[in-house]
Amino acid sequence: MSTLRDIRATVREVFRDEVSVSSEKDRLEILEERHQIQLTYFFSKASCDSRETTHVKLRFHPDRAEMWLGALEVASPYRSRGIGREIARAVEVIAQRLGIREINLFPLFRSGPFWQKLGYGEHRGRAARVLSKTVVPARSCSRL
Ligand SMILES: CC(C)(COP(=O)(O)OP(=O)(O)OC[C@H]1O[C@@H](n2cnc3c(N)ncnc32)[C@H](O)[C@@H]1OP(=O)(O)O)[C@@H](O)C(=O)NCCC(=O)NCCS
Repeated sequence: MSTLRDIRATVREVFRDEVSVSSEKDRLEILEERHQIQLTYFFSKASCDSRETTHVKLRFHPDRAEMWLGALEVASPYRSRGIGREIARAVEVIAQRLGIREINLFPLFRSGPFWQKLGYGEHRGRAARVLSKTVVPARSCSRL
Protein backbone atom coordinates (compact mmCIF):
# COMPACT_ATOMS: atom_id res chain seq x y z
CA MET A 1 0.00 0.00 0.00
CA SER A 2 1.49 3.36 -1.05
CA THR A 3 1.47 6.35 1.26
CA LEU A 4 0.89 9.93 0.17
CA ARG A 5 4.62 10.47 0.58
CA ASP A 6 5.48 7.59 -1.80
CA ILE A 7 2.94 8.80 -4.35
CA ARG A 8 4.12 12.42 -4.28
CA ALA A 9 7.81 11.47 -4.56
CA THR A 10 7.16 9.02 -7.39
CA VAL A 11 5.03 11.48 -9.35
CA ARG A 12 7.63 14.23 -9.10
CA GLU A 13 10.51 11.95 -10.01
CA VAL A 14 8.84 10.26 -12.96
CA PHE A 15 7.51 13.45 -14.53
CA ARG A 16 10.90 15.09 -14.08
CA ASP A 17 12.67 12.18 -15.80
CA GLU A 18 10.14 11.25 -18.48
CA VAL A 19 8.42 14.43 -19.65
CA SER A 20 10.44 16.86 -21.76
CA VAL A 21 8.41 19.91 -20.66
CA SER A 22 8.79 19.30 -16.93
CA SER A 23 10.66 21.92 -14.93
CA GLU A 24 11.48 23.15 -11.45
CA LYS A 25 8.55 25.55 -11.68
CA ASP A 26 5.96 22.78 -12.03
CA ARG A 27 3.20 22.77 -9.45
CA LEU A 28 1.60 19.87 -7.66
CA GLU A 29 -1.79 20.18 -5.97
CA ILE A 30 -2.90 17.46 -3.60
CA LEU A 31 -6.31 16.81 -2.20
CA GLU A 32 -6.48 14.07 0.38
CA GLU A 33 -9.85 12.63 1.22
CA ARG A 34 -10.84 9.67 3.32
CA HIS A 35 -10.45 6.94 0.73
CA GLN A 36 -8.58 8.64 -2.04
CA ILE A 37 -5.77 10.99 -2.94
CA GLN A 38 -6.27 13.36 -5.86
CA LEU A 39 -3.24 14.95 -7.35
CA THR A 40 -2.98 17.52 -10.13
CA TYR A 41 0.39 18.20 -11.74
CA PHE A 42 0.86 21.39 -13.77
CA PHE A 43 3.63 21.60 -16.37
CA SER A 44 4.54 25.29 -16.31
CA LYS A 45 6.76 25.22 -19.41
CA ALA A 46 3.82 24.15 -21.58
CA SER A 47 1.21 26.45 -20.04
CA CYS A 48 0.00 29.85 -21.21
CA ASP A 49 -1.56 31.35 -18.10
CA SER A 50 -3.63 30.17 -15.16
CA ARG A 51 -6.60 29.48 -17.44
CA GLU A 52 -4.81 27.47 -20.08
CA THR A 53 -2.45 24.98 -18.55
CA THR A 54 -0.95 21.65 -19.44
CA HIS A 55 -1.89 19.38 -16.57
CA VAL A 56 -2.84 15.89 -15.55
CA LYS A 57 -5.11 14.86 -12.72
CA LEU A 58 -4.63 11.49 -11.05
CA ARG A 59 -6.78 9.80 -8.44
CA PHE A 60 -5.34 7.09 -6.25
CA HIS A 61 -7.13 4.70 -3.93
CA PRO A 62 -4.18 3.63 -1.81
CA ASP A 63 -5.85 0.37 -0.81
CA ARG A 64 -6.69 -0.63 -4.41
CA ALA A 65 -4.39 -1.57 -7.30
CA GLU A 66 -6.00 0.91 -9.67
CA MET A 67 -5.62 4.56 -10.57
CA TRP A 68 -8.00 6.96 -12.30
CA LEU A 69 -6.73 9.47 -14.77
CA GLY A 70 -9.20 12.26 -14.13
CA ALA A 71 -8.01 14.67 -16.80
CA LEU A 72 -5.17 15.20 -19.22
CA GLU A 73 -5.03 18.48 -20.99
CA VAL A 74 -2.29 19.94 -23.16
CA ALA A 75 -2.63 23.73 -23.58
CA SER A 76 -3.74 24.35 -27.16
CA PRO A 77 -0.53 25.99 -28.53
CA TYR A 78 1.47 22.95 -27.39
CA ARG A 79 -0.72 20.23 -28.90
CA SER A 80 0.43 17.74 -31.56
CA ARG A 81 4.05 17.79 -30.41
CA GLY A 82 3.98 14.48 -28.56
CA ILE A 83 3.52 16.06 -25.10
CA GLY A 84 0.20 14.32 -24.36
CA ARG A 85 1.74 10.97 -25.25
CA GLU A 86 4.79 11.63 -23.04
CA ILE A 87 2.60 12.52 -20.06
CA ALA A 88 0.33 9.50 -20.56
CA ARG A 89 3.35 7.18 -20.80
CA ALA A 90 4.83 8.74 -17.66
CA VAL A 91 1.54 8.02 -15.86
CA GLU A 92 2.03 4.35 -16.75
CA VAL A 93 5.55 4.42 -15.27
CA ILE A 94 4.12 5.97 -12.09
CA ALA A 95 1.54 3.17 -11.92
CA GLN A 96 4.18 0.51 -12.44
CA ARG A 97 6.42 1.94 -9.73
CA LEU A 98 3.54 2.08 -7.25
CA GLY A 99 2.37 -1.47 -8.02
CA ILE A 100 -0.85 -0.30 -9.65
CA ARG A 101 -2.17 -2.71 -12.26
CA GLU A 102 -4.96 -0.76 -13.90
CA ILE A 103 -5.40 2.79 -15.16
CA ASN A 104 -8.98 3.86 -15.89
CA LEU A 105 -10.42 7.00 -17.41
CA PHE A 106 -13.56 8.51 -18.88
CA PRO A 107 -12.45 9.79 -22.29
CA LEU A 108 -13.50 13.31 -23.15
CA PHE A 109 -15.41 13.92 -26.33
CA ARG A 110 -13.16 13.26 -29.37
CA SER A 111 -10.19 12.06 -27.33
CA GLY A 112 -11.05 8.34 -27.79
CA PRO A 113 -8.66 7.82 -30.75
CA PHE A 114 -5.79 9.37 -28.79
CA TRP A 115 -6.29 6.86 -25.96
CA GLN A 116 -6.73 3.96 -28.37
CA LYS A 117 -3.34 4.79 -29.89
CA LEU A 118 -1.85 4.50 -26.44
CA GLY A 119 -3.36 1.06 -25.89
CA TYR A 120 -6.48 1.92 -23.87
CA GLY A 121 -9.60 -0.13 -24.55
CA GLU A 122 -13.17 -0.50 -23.40
CA HIS A 123 -13.32 -1.80 -19.88
CA ARG A 124 -15.59 -4.82 -19.74
CA GLY A 125 -17.77 -4.90 -16.69
CA ARG A 126 -17.54 -1.19 -16.00
CA ALA A 127 -20.07 1.49 -16.81
CA ALA A 128 -20.09 2.49 -20.46
CA ARG A 129 -17.31 4.73 -21.74
CA VAL A 130 -14.66 3.77 -19.22
CA LEU A 131 -11.37 3.08 -20.97
CA SER A 132 -8.68 1.17 -19.17
CA LYS A 133 -5.21 -0.22 -19.54
CA THR A 134 -3.52 -2.96 -17.56
CA VAL A 135 0.08 -2.25 -16.70
CA VAL A 136 2.59 -4.71 -15.33
CA PRO A 137 4.04 -3.57 -12.03
CA ALA A 138 7.79 -2.96 -12.16
CA ARG A 139 9.91 -5.64 -10.53
CA SER A 140 12.39 -4.51 -8.00
CA CYS A 141 15.75 -5.93 -9.01
CA SER A 142 18.53 -6.78 -6.68
CA ARG A 143 21.99 -5.46 -7.42
CA LEU A 144 24.35 -7.68 -9.34
C1 LIG B 1 -5.98 14.76 -26.24
C2 LIG B 1 -4.71 15.60 -25.95
C3 LIG B 1 -4.33 15.41 -24.47
C4 LIG B 1 -3.57 15.06 -26.85
O1 LIG B 1 -2.36 15.74 -26.52
P1 LIG B 1 -1.27 16.07 -27.65
O2 LIG B 1 -0.03 16.52 -26.96
O3 LIG B 1 -1.86 17.00 -28.64
O4 LIG B 1 -1.09 14.65 -28.34
P2 LIG B 1 0.26 14.02 -28.96
O5 LIG B 1 0.91 15.06 -29.81
O6 LIG B 1 1.07 13.42 -27.88
O7 LIG B 1 -0.36 12.90 -29.87
C5 LIG B 1 -0.07 11.52 -29.72
C6 LIG B 1 -0.76 10.77 -30.84
O8 LIG B 1 -2.18 10.86 -30.69
C7 LIG B 1 -2.77 11.47 -31.84
N1 LIG B 1 -3.84 12.34 -31.37
C8 LIG B 1 -3.76 13.38 -30.51
N2 LIG B 1 -4.97 13.89 -30.27
C9 LIG B 1 -5.84 13.16 -31.00
C10 LIG B 1 -7.24 13.19 -31.17
N3 LIG B 1 -8.02 14.08 -30.54
N4 LIG B 1 -7.79 12.27 -32.01
C11 LIG B 1 -7.04 11.37 -32.66
N5 LIG B 1 -5.69 11.27 -32.51
C12 LIG B 1 -5.11 12.15 -31.70
C13 LIG B 1 -1.64 12.25 -32.50
O9 LIG B 1 -1.88 12.42 -33.87
C14 LIG B 1 -0.46 11.36 -32.23
O10 LIG B 1 -0.43 10.27 -33.12
P3 LIG B 1 0.91 9.86 -33.92
O11 LIG B 1 1.96 9.63 -32.87
O12 LIG B 1 0.51 8.64 -34.65
O13 LIG B 1 1.22 11.04 -34.77
C15 LIG B 1 -4.91 17.10 -26.29
O14 LIG B 1 -5.36 17.21 -27.61
C16 LIG B 1 -5.89 17.83 -25.39
O15 LIG B 1 -5.50 18.36 -24.35
N6 LIG B 1 -7.19 17.83 -25.79
C17 LIG B 1 -8.22 18.51 -24.99
C18 LIG B 1 -8.53 17.80 -23.69
C19 LIG B 1 -8.78 16.30 -23.88
O16 LIG B 1 -9.55 15.89 -24.74
N7 LIG B 1 -8.14 15.51 -23.02
C20 LIG B 1 -8.34 14.10 -22.93
C21 LIG B 1 -9.01 13.94 -21.62
S1 LIG B 1 -9.59 12.39 -21.19
